[in-house]
Amino acid sequence: MSFPLVRMRRLRRNETIRRMVAETTLGVSDLIYPMFVCPGKGVRQPVGSMPGVDRFSVDTLVEECKQVADLGVPAVILFGIPEKKDALGRGAYDKNGPVPLALRALRRAVPGLALAADVCMCEYTDHGHCGILDKDTVHNDATLELLAKAAVVYAQAGAHIVAPSDMMDGRVGEIREALDEAELPDTLIMSYAAKYCSAFYGPFREAADSAPQFGDRKTYQMDPANVRQALREVALDVEEGADIVMVKPALPYLDVLAHMRDEFDLPLAAYHVSGEYSMIKAAAQLGWIDHDRVMMESLLSIKRAGADMILTYFAKEAAKLLAGGGK
Ligand code: PBG
Repeated sequence: MSFPLVRMRRLRRNETIRRMVAETTLGVSDLIYPMFVCPGKGVRQPVGSMPGVDRFSVDTLVEECKQVADLGVPAVILFGIPEKKDALGRGAYDKNGPVPLALRALRRAVPGLALAADVCMCEYTDHGHCGILDKDTVHNDATLELLAKAAVVYAQAGAHIVAPSDMMDGRVGEIREALDEAELPDTLIMSYAAKYCSAFYGPFREAADSAPQFGDRKTYQMDPANVRQALREVALDVEEGADIVMVKPALPYLDVLAHMRDEFDLPLAAYHVSGEYSMIKAAAQLGWIDHDRVMMESLLSIKRAGADMILTYFAKEAAKLLAGGGK
């Protein structure tokens, strides 16, 4: 009888050995918590399709963010739900909209927390598209100006990071120029560089009330069939002055993330989106999977594929588990 000379199982022998040879670690510093801000006072309204996720008014958001910061989560990204929507998405650059109000309050009340603001028109337009319309299509260049205006409003209100998620061509350059002109050269741009036209955004659109009222986003968001095109998108955003680039969604696009890691040196983010979150919640509620283990395995896998940071609705829950040494 001959014995295997190499036994891989030696490396898995006990918890301590496994910890020593682990190639990837997930830490609380990797997490960014997406949050929804709405008008009003004392509001904390659950989102039906995303158990554990709420829409907050500014006052309750501030209290929640204190807890987020206490858990060690370094950053939040804010999405706004405006009082009213119109064809031009004017709410996106309203200095007194929910997002700028929240940014000002958070800068005062939770100074250690990094603040990111999503920059897009779809939460603010009555037709639900990510830009302004020219007949039945989104007008790229007319939208750029509005995105840049919104980014400057958020940066002036205290955002450390602005995160354009609209997928218009040239938006990173336009925003960078506008920030420089407004003397805000230190604001980071985290671009949703490889944002796919994905059915996994369904629950988010309920949370933000931002589903397109006609058609779909296929003329601006990427085709899930493409990866080389994602690398071109990233290269353009880097050229235009992005500081961090993102892939979105995360788990179905880990190959895209891995390619981005191979080709680019700047920090990479992955957005573990609403549908990915809700699938885990739903299966766990039915008793079909172990919630915490599937959550941590998902986040670790996103890190392993090359992400430096993960936008995830699990940020608080994962932070609590990490603090307890659990996995
Ligand atoms: C705005 C935006 C969307 C998401 C983030 N920013 C929705 C969309 O493009 O329809 C989705 C996030 C998620 O599903 O968690 N354009």
